[in-house]
Amino acid sequence: MAKITLCVLEALASVITLMGHAVDAKSVYAHYMGKFDNVAKIGTVTEGSGHAELDIDQAQALGIEAFAMNIGQPSQPWAQSTVKQLFDKADQTGFKLFFSLDFYQTGDVNAYTQIVSDYINRESYLKTGPDNLPVVSTFSVGGVSPQDFQTWKQNNYDGKIYFLPNADTSSGYDNPETWFQQWGDVVDGVFGWETAWPAPGQTPANVSDAVDTAVQNAAHNVGKTYMAPLSSLQFKKCCGGNYYRIGEANLPQRMSQLLALNPDFVEVLTWSLTNSKNDAGESHYIGNNWAEGLTEEILAYSNTDIWPHYDWQPLIASFISAYKEGRDASGMTPPEGSEAVGAMWYRPVLKDASCQKPDNWQSAVDAVNYGIVVGSDASSLSIRVTSGGEVIRETPAQPGLNYGSVPGIKTGKQTVELVKDGSSILTATSTVDVVETNEDCFFNFHVVGLK
Ligand SMILES: *[C@@H]1O[C@H](CO)[C@@H](O)[C@H](O)[C@H]1NC(C)=O
Repeated sequence: MAKITLCVLEALASVITLMGHAVDAKSVYAHYMGKFDNVAKIGTVTEGSGHAELDIDQAQALGIEAFAMNIGQPSQPWAQSTVKQLFDKADQTGFKLFFSLDFYQTGDVNAYTQIVSDYINRESYLKTGPDNLPVVSTFSVGGVSPQDFQTWKQNNYDGKIYFLPNADTSSGYDNPETWFQQWGDVVDGVFGWETAWPAPGQTPANVSDAVDTAVQNAAHNVGKTYMAPLSSLQFKKCCGGNYYRIGEANLPQRMSQLLALNPDFVEVLTWSLTNSKNDAGESHYIGNNWAEGLTEEILAYSNTDIWPHYDWQPLIASFISAYKEGRDASGMTPPEGSEAVGAMWYRPVLKDASCQKPDNWQSAVDAVNYGIVVGSDASSLSIRVTSGGEVIRETPAQPGLNYGSVPGIKTGKQTVELVKDGSSILTATSTVDVVETNEDCFFNFHVVGLK
């Protein structure tokens, strides 16, 4: 009996999935940077290193379906080599890839025609929408007009592109209804970027979904899709820039927001870092920053031996399965067989540090941050945050996603514990002590998983 019911449910689920596919793909992608945009160290993409392949295996394990390959120098041999390595691997594994044309680097849309043509017919090129068309996204639209994009699509691909540009710096975007009147003929959907974080500023702030909601509503009203961005922080100290953008509990807070918003697609910003003009070294990686693709300046605060962000990945995986199954943040679950999964993260210097601080350091909060996903029975669990030997918060755990940014971080050691009936069952312990100040002045986070 139970088995029959299950079969019927499965059949129903696949019908729903099929129907849903046309309008409602619910897929998560990750912005992949670093090796197409290597303006500093030409020719360092090492074929045979296994790096591109490992990136795909790891992303796929999280439930990420595709990389958006940020490409800004399409005719350079190192870019072409990386693209080829990724496609060769993806063709074998069922992972997908699509181009994100970086108009900050190369503003002429025709410069991308050849590379797009070379790859859109590959097995692993991402296709979506009712007509199952190859997806092309962008980082900004530069100075390219809707008419220019239309001509490019029509002349080179017979119009058969699912065009999903990041257009949030284009004029009129703040009035999405009007924007779609201008762009609606050429786009199939639109992708936000800036809404992944609060606007840059000098006071603490929470991320908002107001713009996402307005754009998504306008998109749906005209039969288009919306791809929402998910990210952690921005801290950059390279390439002539030094700035901070919140940060703190942004990643889990945004997860919670996106599960409520339920956009058509989500793009994680970013898998890796890059030297390029677009978002060089901004610290929002969740995967590998391969040393061969990055400058010493960037690696100083983002090499993944000392500054790994891998422990955000289990949270991302839990987010992805909740998103695909239409659950909200309270319905996020740890992997089967585990009681909880999560991480703590913190900045190793205080914001009053007397060093060369990033712009907008004032918006940072001296806090211990965490995100912990707990299973359905949370009744005997609590979350305890200890900073410099002092308990600064203990709070009952709830089923699903728990997160916090607990102010009052002290110098020294940091721990976040999951406590059951008074004893600690999982602990995240700082890898590097917090200090009042140091010479580096890096505002990147140390991210440590609960073990
Ligand atoms: C951000 O949101 C949290 C609740 O999630 C709230 O406690 C906090 O005060 C908010 N911060 C700001 C600056 O609005």
